[in-house]
Amino acid sequence: MKLNIAVLPGDGIGPEVTEQAVKVTAAVCSKNGHEVTFSHGLIGAAAIDAVGSPYPEKTHELCMGSGAVLFGAIGDPRYDNDPGARQRPEKGLLSMRSRLGLYANLRPVKSIQALYHKSPLREDIIKGVDFVAVRELTGGIYFGRPQGRSEDGDTAYDTCIYHRHEIERISRLAFDLAGKRRGKLCMVDKANVLATSRLWREVVQKLSGEYPGVDTEYMFVDNAAMQLIQWPGRFDVILTENMFGDILTDEASVITGSLGMLPSASIGKHTSVFEPIHGSYPQAAGKDTANPLAAVLSAALMFEYAFKMPREAEMIVKAAESSVGAGVVTEDMGGAAKSRTSEVGDWLVKYIEGL
Ligand code: IPM
Ligand code: MN
Repeated sequence: MKLNIAVLPGDGIGPEVTEQAVKVTAAVCSKNGHEVTFSHGLIGAAAIDAVGSPYPEKTHELCMGSGAVLFGAIGDPRYDNDPGARQRPEKGLLSMRSRLGLYANLRPVKSIQALYHKSPLREDIIKGVDFVAVRELTGGIYFGRPQGRSEDGDTAYDTCIYHRHEIERISRLAFDLAGKRRGKLCMVDKANVLATSRLWREVVQKLSGEYPGVDTEYMFVDNAAMQLIQWPGRFDVILTENMFGDILTDEASVITGSLGMLPSASIGKHTSVFEPIHGSYPQAAGKDTANPLAAVLSAALMFEYAFKMPREAEMIVKAAESSVGAGVVTEDMGGAAKSRTSEVGDWLVKYIEGL
């Protein structure tokens, strides 16, 4: 097969972790006789600096014309403490998600035995945890209008809006996914307070009748935040809106021992994007110390979801788990011997070549 992949490294540690994902992708392709082309594009603060926009038209065209997008990270401290900044790097990521119609963000959370000791949670709590958070990605308070300030600058507002069709399409995807897994769906909302959450519940309740094989439960987000730590093994598929999903999945990364481990797939209407859930971690940028596994595992999701190549995906997952088992890990994963970002990537490539 011929694969065309757009690579958007972005900011901070984005470039160095994405580079490992590219190396690993290339190795898997050559192992399996696929021809692959990588085309790089600008996004985020890097794009603002170079061409004055966080998601340049050229980048959008590149994404639209590719079979998949590997994305690194976005964010730059130069903008974080400048509330008046005219351009925001994060806007690049949000524009890309919105313009590509990527309404579903799948964030698998699976504990790895070799890392049980790394989690601040007890082993009996995290043992065998295996769930997927399905986060709505193009609606809610991230995109609702109006958003802004009053003229005197003393009042600010964001708007949380959801339309029935937006809830329905992602809910169907979550029900289908639950049907292929352990048949359990947990809808997380704040229906005791928010009108949008009540619409979510209404839509999901109605749909649940069409999926008799799936057990549906409803949970308030504050309770879910507690249960994720107390009893994460109870979850199979978690369905939730944009901001709750953002927050709960950072929390869930504690289960796997490091935020540097969690990959994600953003899918919807146009080209799918594969992105680690972690941010740009500017303190570590350029130091070759960041954990590349979230980016590498995102490449595995790319083979699974964008290219429908489960064998190739499996090779990457196996390589990543083996590197952890062999102690070839970056400093965030603890242990005496620390490997560099690029060394982990090199090890993975060798492993795949030897398969
Ligand atoms: C994520 C990030 C983004 C989000 C930011 C960078 C806009 O935190 O992908 O989880 O909030 O969606
Ligand atoms: Mn986030």
